[in-house]
Amino acid sequence: MKKIVLFITTLLITNTLLMAEDHAKVLFEAKCTSCHMTKRPTSEQFKTIVAPAIMGVMRHVKMQYKNKKEAVNFIVDYTLNPTKEKAICIDTKLEKFGLMLSQKESVTKEEIMIIAEYIYDTYPPTNFRGMGQGNRR
Ligand code: HEC
Repeated sequence: MKKIVLFITTLLITNTLLMAEDHAKVLFEAKCTSCHMTKRPTSEQFKTIVAPAIMGVMRHVKMQYKNKKEAVNFIVDYTLNPTKEKAICIDTKLEKFGLMLSQKESVTKEEIMIIAEYIYDTYPPTNFRGMGQGNRR
């Protein structure tokens, strides 16, 4: 009996965690990926994209902020109130794309906190070695 209870509890917990991750992914895709691609843009796409791809963004965020809490705080704050002074991405990106518009109208503080944790945990993928374009000196 004990075993069954334990089994069911584990199942429920795993399920809840999976659902939370799903929820975060869905939110991120709904609110951010219209501008931030989740795949490396091809050179053709590179001409028309409107924002840096998310793994590039997160690489820079992680270079600047060494722990998750600070990185998440930065993402939350920047997404709601972006300014040139706060931006940590390289200058050429700001020139190419212009400053990100505040996403205040599109995400709530609760949503962006969920999204920020999710993108911190997900990007860049472990085999990522820079975007190639733009990162070259
Ligand atoms: C309308 C297009 C658009 C949407 C939607 C958008 N962004 Fe951005 N974002 C940009 C652009 C353009 C930049 C590059 C310029 C800049 O850094 O401000 C950027 C840059 C960023 C940066 C890097 C900040 C830095 O230091 O330069 C982060 C982090 C970010 N976005 C997070 C998000 C998140 C999270 C969402 C979803 C809630 C989101 N963005 C939705 C256009 C967008």
